[in-house]
Amino acid sequence: MASTGLFISFEGIDGAGKSSHIEALAEAFRAQGRAVVSTREPGGTPLAEKLRAMLLHDSMDALTEALLVFAGRRDHLRNVIEPALARGEVVLCDRFTDATFAYQGGGRGFDWNALSLLERLAQTGLALQPDLMREPDLTLWFDLAPAVAAERLAGARAPDRFEALDVAFFERVAQGYARRAAEAPNRFARLDAAQERERVWRQLQDVLARRGWLPAVGVTA
Ligand code: TYD
Repeated sequence: MASTGLFISFEGIDGAGKSSHIEALAEAFRAQGRAVVSTREPGGTPLAEKLRAMLLHDSMDALTEALLVFAGRRDHLRNVIEPALARGEVVLCDRFTDATFAYQGGGRGFDWNALSLLERLAQTGLALQPDLMREPDLTLWFDLAPAVAAERLAGARAPDRFEALDVAFFERVAQGYARRAAEAPNRFARLDAAQERERVWRQLQDVLARRGWLPAVGVTA
């Protein structure tokens, strides 16, 4: 039974709480009989995971960061995401290109148009057809005030290069996400991540149900 592949990304500043919802959504799709690939960026392939380790721990400038994330993304698209979509599977990706615009663009101040060019280069189809840029079908944006996210992260595991940055950096990252969302309002669904976990999950289910991708939510959350 052939079905159309579905590509959903999860975005938000560090501490917004997206990770805990990814597995729940994977389960909800599996309960519908869908095959699910749960993956992440930076990373998702052996090569891209090596790049991830560099990105999170080695110091480098914003252009180098951008080039590494897009190199990893290209490998991830070719070897994991595109093949899964071609098989009609659901791909759930913990961060994708919006994170590059938010962190390298908003956070680091790297040129937005240059990122758009890299996006187009890295994400055009396997045969590099210019009119086939791959993007998520839906981006779930866990929106949370940076000061609240910082409180949630305080005392958690040892921070990586990004998590160690100050609230001002995350304010700029949050603005980067807001700008991306304004540029692609149909693709983005904003979730109020300040709510308690069950309410965020309910809001997330509503978004999927309205698109006809999951059954409507019942009376209990
Ligand atoms: P994250 O999903 O937060 O991993 P974990 O939950 O294991 O900490 O991602 C790692 C960091 O990488 C995060 O701080 C955001 C950053 N990042 C970028 O700077 N650019 C990108 O393009 C992506 C995908 C992530």
